[in-house]
Amino acid sequence: MTRRRRIYEGKAKVLFEGPEPGTLVQYFKDDATAFNNQKKGVITGKGVLNNRISEYLMSRLSEIGVPTHFMRRLNMREQLVREVEIIPIEVVVRNVAAGSLSRRFGIPEGTPLPRSIIEYYYKSDELNDPMVSEEHITAFGWAGPQDLDDMVALSLRVNDYLSGLFLGIGLKLVDFKLEFGRLWENEEMRIVLADEISPDNCRLWDVKTNEKLDKDRFRQDLGRVEEAYQEVARRLGILPEGGPSDVKGPKTIQ
Ligand code: C5P
Repeated sequence: MTRRRRIYEGKAKVLFEGPEPGTLVQYFKDDATAFNNQKKGVITGKGVLNNRISEYLMSRLSEIGVPTHFMRRLNMREQLVREVEIIPIEVVVRNVAAGSLSRRFGIPEGTPLPRSIIEYYYKSDELNDPMVSEEHITAFGWAGPQDLDDMVALSLRVNDYLSGLFLGIGLKLVDFKLEFGRLWENEEMRIVLADEISPDNCRLWDVKTNEKLDKDRFRQDLGRVEEAYQEVARRLGILPEGGPSDVKGPKTIQ
């Protein structure tokens, strides 16, 4: 393998310099972390599955006019993406009470919310990703009012589209986290969807049984973690050929 410049290493992904200026290679690891790195583990085959799941979802979103950083999948664990300037805000959209919302407000998990709720978190491991308001975001200059408007509008479109897509395969989109970046083309700047969309950053429950098919299986030690990711890919019709045994895939970097 040719040596490539490593631009950034996160908990679940590595970004390498891409083949052309303005591109990056996004490599999906099997590493899993939770509770801001306090819990660590490996979910075998997760990187391969998330690469495919994110490719699929970003491609469908692109078809309905949601701009994304995704260009194309390169191999089992890597995809080519546009280089963007990441906005240091995590946008969480919630449809059903779960996780930190349930804990914060004492609302039982599974309670449908009266309407979709958007929350913002400032991306900072040192500060434990604190929840922030629009006031903090604009006052501290993490994003401008227009950027925020674009992020909210895109998040709601993503929520509507993905809620329907997942419902069609018997999954409830409980909540999810999105990240956005600034993309410059000529002199113009656009806000585009970045990072990934996968069971690592979505809560997905079986519509009939409420079985959790996402990273909560790892966070809460529910077991059958690999199987949950495979089941999401299977229902989306994108489980790698050869079935689960093919999922470990080639490890192109170490
Ligand atoms: O933990 P919490 O309930 O706030 O998570 C809301 C949603 O955002 C979940 O789908 C979770 O997977 C996702 N999330 C994430 N990365 C974080 C925090 C939350 O993907 N750092």
